Amino acid sequence: MDIAVVTGSAGLVGGEAVRRFAPRFDLVVGLDNGMRQEFFGPAGSVARGLAEVRRVENYRHHSVDVRDRAAVDGVLRTLGADVRLVVHAAGQPSRAWSARQPLVDFAVNAVGALTVLDSVRRHCGEAVFALVSAAQVYGDVPDALPLVETATRWELDPAHPFHEHGVDESIRLDRADRAFLGVSKLSADLAAQEHGRQLGMKVGVFRCGSVTGPGQAGVPEHGFVSHLVRSAVRGAPYPVVGHGGKQVRDVLDARDLVDALWEFSLDPRPGEVYHLGGGRERAASVLELIARYEHLTGVEVRFDYSPRPRFADPRWWISDTRKFRRDYPGWSPAHDLDDVLSTLHRHWSGVQEVVAPG
Ligand SMILES: NC(=O)c1ccc[n+]([C@@H]2O[C@H](COP(=O)([O-])OP(=O)(O)OC[C@H]3O[C@@H](n4cnc5c(N)ncnc54)[C@H](O)[C@@H]3O)[C@@H](O)[C@H]2O)c1
Repeated sequence: MDIAVVTGSAGLVGGEAVRRFAPRFDLVVGLDNGMRQEFFGPAGSVARGLAEVRRVENYRHHSVDVRDRAAVDGVLRTLGADVRLVVHAAGQPSRAWSARQPLVDFAVNAVGALTVLDSVRRHCGEAVFALVSAAQVYGDVPDALPLVETATRWELDPAHPFHEHGVDESIRLDRADRAFLGVSKLSADLAAQEHGRQLGMKVGVFRCGSVTGPGQAGVPEHGFVSHLVRSAVRGAPYPVVGHGGKQVRDVLDARDLVDALWEFSLDPRPGEVYHLGGGRERAASVLELIARYEHLTGVEVRFDYSPRPRFADPRWWISDTRKFRRDYPGWSPAHDLDDVLSTLHRHWSGVQEVVAPG
């Protein structure tokens, strides 16, 4: 029997992994304890995501906390060597939240990842392991790049080698201000690399920019594109925080991210680290994204502006994905920014909500 295991299976990335892997495996096993609601309140609930994955015929759910070693072990021991692929997407994803509870953030993101890695090594060591890491591991290092301010965005000096394709994996990690989220994600990222490099497991580490899709319960502290559209559809003001709203992010549809993980699983390179994002064609500042969404849908976005930026929140990030595309030429993102925005618009327009988007 061929089995895929997905942690965080009720969330954005995990849910998409379940749906896309279900036709390719005999069984998809998900681990998620619904903790997103604990982080972000009812608006962050993944109950809808959980109901959707539960409808997948060959899906089996375990409400397991990834910090719980005995529970994680119990699931993986039973599945054993039939597990061919593990996607670790359970996590606490917000910078702001991590500052309030750094200990819980570290336990979920770093210890949780290590717990799952260790259990996979002991019970299904031949499986491919994909860790969903984040560009936040670099903290504010990208802010040291020579940036210029234009009317609608922060932009990298055109003479800089990262200008055309974005930031590659050679960017430094040290001498940075870094949110606690960056600390916990980097710890998991390094532990995962060592399981590939030192212990020979088929581990890949994917440092993602902004990922989104209808499976994301966008809230003020996480999932800005989803939250922007959710707020606009409800007529609620969207909170723009710092940098004049000109901070630039590249946006990747979760379906494209999961397709990249699938490509990796077919020919894994142990311990390798990749930047994965939408790249320059799918990059926009918050102001540009608002204008694009308004143009596309005719819906006006009301927003409130707070001038104080979030801690260690860089003004510019675009992922250079050329290393991944060199190693896996079969992959390129299928969904452009307009597609991402219209999909989110259709999604949030069709959802009846009893809670405010925050
Ligand atoms: N969405 C993004 O823009 C983005 C960008 C870069 C990296 N990432 C990383 O990708 C991963 C997945 O992100 P996402 O956007 O799907 O987030 P998400 O919040 O939608 O999904 C994470 C899931 O993990 C679950 N979870 C949290 N703590 C858990 C625990 N202790 N045990 C079991 N399950 C738990 C949550 O309930 C949620 O369903 C995160 O680690 C995040 O840091 C996300």
